[in-house]
Amino acid sequence: MKKLNGKLKHNIAVFISGRGSNLKSIIKYSLKQNSYYTVKEVISNKQRAKGLIIAKKKNINNHFINFTKSKQLGNKVLSILKKNNIKLVCLAGFMKILPSYFIKSYNGKIINIHPSLLPKYKGLDTHKRVIANKEKYTGCTVHHVNVYLDSGRIILQKKVRITKKDTAKSIEKKVLKIEHKIYPKAINKVLTNL
Ligand code: GRF
Repeated sequence: MKKLNGKLKHNIAVFISGRGSNLKSIIKYSLKQNSYYTVKEVISNKQRAKGLIIAKKKNINNHFINFTKSKQLGNKVLSILKKNNIKLVCLAGFMKILPSYFIKSYNGKIINIHPSLLPKYKGLDTHKRVIANKEKYTGCTVHHVNVYLDSGRIILQKKVRITKKDTAKSIEKKVLKIEHKIYPKAINKVLTNL
């Protein structure tokens, strides 16, 4: 643990696959007085993920790791996490299902953000499905990761209202805005309970 502003902070890792807007908000919050964490590692399963550039700019260790390539690579990730004393792995737009041996070896210490009010709308294309079903509300959920898709224990959830004018695109924008607010808070919440 590192001491920042007189406070002890836990090391966390963020796993991404793309644009990294959640990563950005997680980093921003980490610099605040009331955050309990430092973003120590950023790992992407996509070489061209924009989030890797965000990490580079902030001088955060970052790696591209091709997770499809066998257990050896999973073990490489585990050794990076161990070496850096990572207390929590935060999936933020990480579009790869982690192998169960990996989840088990970081049991209870992997969390994810999903753009729906789980347990409704697990999986992909949540906003399109929400519109097609004429839902009145949607939102986002931060949850623990277990071996089943989007099914782990819920940590925090926030709702937004859907209006008649909304499209999948406008809902994505609204939901992303609240994702950026709740993910850092959920990380803090989990870390206080570790
Ligand atoms: C977010 O909507 C997140 O809920 C989902 O993937 C998206 C990632 O966006 N899992 P970003 O890469 O954080 O901008």
